[in-house]
Amino acid sequence: QIAYLNGEFIPIEKAQISPQDRGFLFGDGVYEVIPVYGKKLFTFQDHLERLKNSLKATSILNPLEDDAWERLLQKLVDMHPWKNQYIYLQVTRGVQMQRDHLPADCLSPTLYAYTNELKPVSEAIINQGIKAVTLDDIRWLRCDIKAITLLPNIMMKMAAKNQGADDAILIDRDGLVAEGTSNNVFIVKNDALFTPKNGSRILPGITRSVIQSLAEQHSLPLSETDITLSDLENADEIWLTSSTKDALPVTELNGHLIGQGKPGPVWQKIQQYFEETKQ
Ligand code: PDD
Repeated sequence: QIAYLNGEFIPIEKAQISPQDRGFLFGDGVYEVIPVYGKKLFTFQDHLERLKNSLKATSILNPLEDDAWERLLQKLVDMHPWKNQYIYLQVTRGVQMQRDHLPADCLSPTLYAYTNELKPVSEAIINQGIKAVTLDDIRWLRCDIKAITLLPNIMMKMAAKNQGADDAILIDRDGLVAEGTSNNVFIVKNDALFTPKNGSRILPGITRSVIQSLAEQHSLPLSETDITLSDLENADEIWLTSSTKDALPVTELNGHLIGQGKPGPVWQKIQQYFEETKQ
């Protein structure tokens, strides 16, 4: 497996960065996860735009021009045998010898990227769905930035696991559904789709926007709206969406079955439309 680090392609086990990197010391960096189908980057422009937004919001320098980003990532993909992959890339503010919350001027960002095989979601999940619990969202108020600082997400994912669930659906401080620990939330009620509005409380998911356009193309009604805990509990279907897993059907919430306790008919449809767009 080959990784890219600051201008070089090297075997992943040889990649090394300084412990004084601000990513390591402060979690001072941003990232993206980009799916690749049939060796082609999927929704690359959307991921690039979001990366640029994250860099701009954090005042981290963008190390590459748009076309250089694309060439680099495509080259990384082409160095590996798998048809379907997911690229992880991160940009940190760079190495600073004196630890200081205030970043020094003129740091050069650290750019790291690697790719891995993207395996299909397991048959068990396709047939049974997953279990989720709701938890208070303990994160900050800039969840629109795809920051590498994921400690709250990790803590909430572990808390979900401890309660016997696969993931958590996060309820913000106004009592509204935000998103999952690493995915966006959709609900289906009476054949209509609902998802929380974009803003600073959630990540503007690329899979979320793919689903929005699929819904539009196939005339499925969809609205971006506030979703309460009771809307969630009474939904016919709940999905968690992300670049590596498409839409995962949630069939159990807080110990109660959702719908019939099986992946629902609208999910079956969207999953089929999704597969068609990957061709
Ligand atoms: N996570 N919300 C959060 C908090 C996320 O971390 C992610 C993605 C999403 C979905 O975004 P997208 O559809 O663009 O993947 C929503 C990635 C996959 C991760 O951290 O591994």
